[in-house]
Amino acid sequence: MAKTRIVASLDIGSSKIRTVVGIMDDASTVPNIIGVGIAPSTGLRKGAVIDVEETINSISSSLEDAERMAGEPINHVFLGVGGNHIDSLNSRGVIAVAHAENEISEEDVDRVLEAAQAVTIPSNRRILRIIPKTFTVDEQKGIKYPVGMTGIRLEVETHIITGFEPVVKNIEKCVLQSGVDVDDIIPACLASAEAVLSKRQKELGVVVVDIGCGGTSVTVFEDGATLHTSVIPVGGENVTNDVAIGMRTSIDTAEKIKIEYGSVIPEDVNDRETIDLSLLSKIDTHLVSKKQVVEIIQARYSEIFVLVKDELAKIHRDGMLPAGVILTGAGAKMAGVIDLARETLNLPCQIGFPQNYDGVVDKIDDPAYATAIGLLLWGSRFESRHHAGLKNINFKKGMTSLKKWFKNLVP
Ligand SMILES: Nc1ncnc2c1ncn2[C@@H]1O[C@H](COP(=O)(O)OP(=O)(O)OP(=O)(O)O)[C@@H](O)[C@H]1O
Ligand SMILES: [Mg+2]
Repeated sequence: MAKTRIVASLDIGSSKIRTVVGIMDDASTVPNIIGVGIAPSTGLRKGAVIDVEETINSISSSLEDAERMAGEPINHVFLGVGGNHIDSLNSRGVIAVAHAENEISEEDVDRVLEAAQAVTIPSNRRILRIIPKTFTVDEQKGIKYPVGMTGIRLEVETHIITGFEPVVKNIEKCVLQSGVDVDDIIPACLASAEAVLSKRQKELGVVVVDIGCGGTSVTVFEDGATLHTSVIPVGGENVTNDVAIGMRTSIDTAEKIKIEYGSVIPEDVNDRETIDLSLLSKIDTHLVSKKQVVEIIQARYSEIFVLVKDELAKIHRDGMLPAGVILTGAGAKMAGVIDLARETLNLPCQIGFPQNYDGVVDKIDDPAYATAIGLLLWGSRFESRHHAGLKNINFKKGMTSLKKWFKNLVP
């Protein structure tokens, strides 16, 4: 019988902590998902820990939920971190090829990527990913993987994603204190994209917009590589706050109004339609105009898409991505959001449902699970490589070298 192994992911969001557990064997190409866990994220704000104990409790509860469903213990996880502290920059590296025959080796690729990291990154920022966008060998541009080619001078254009060290460290600490090891830390925006994009979409040019709680991440791909990542500090939480202020209700009631009656198409709502809040809350019991609620929600979602448009304009891709916009995150579940995004961004738009996994857990056929599934896909590919090529080497050592390999080449 084929030997099976467990792969798990942990998406630490500002509103929810999601765990996904998959099982792999030597023959499997995609993970078979056997467990999912979710817990409210009470100890974080905008991606940063504000209460250690609450965060540990939330993580533990999410992990236990998934372990119960999977019937397997979780010992280590691929960890996703997001939030406004995530930043990115582009950087170039150049080296002289070392070998006598001038054949480019993996070591040369490692060296040139290291050279690209020799930019001034403040000491309080941790490099989470360095992604090679394109290599140039002598004068030949646009090379995706130069190993085996002949040349004297090797150049690389990279995209580097960093996180604020204290924030990343505190999240890592909370995860460790919840009793699991961290296999690797991956920016949440890259993980979401991993779960919902095809190779062809990445080649053509596409943007993944993940509408979360505290923020909205924008990740642009072109020619198969990450072109741009950024986080807009406006998300579902702002929509809820607007409804609470506009309708004079508590945040909890506003959240319920938003989920139950929300939409971004005021034209579809009759002026006289009301929402009876006593059906949603014991504290807020007045009637509110549904049209006003929808207008408030529409205004904030419009702002989010205008900010996304500004991000695309910064890199000269406003209205210019042939594979369009893919929406993920729970905020993408708002009624009418596809039409609003299409009109504002002047691009084709669709919701990103996670792909490339097996299993019958219905719950995850949901754009809110894009990050957690993407982390798992990342992890399962890493595990496959580990089992395929490095069976006899020390696991920890293999981890380090493969981690480096992965960090550099994916996606
Ligand atoms: N059905 C729904 N329709 C619209 N919005 C929703 C729906 N369900 C949840 N939301 C909103 O989505 C937001 C949470 O999104 P998500 O769960 O993707 O965030 P998160 O991953 O926890 O946070 P972040 O990615 O910002 O760290 C909340 O503001 C919530 O109100
Ligand atoms: Mg999220």
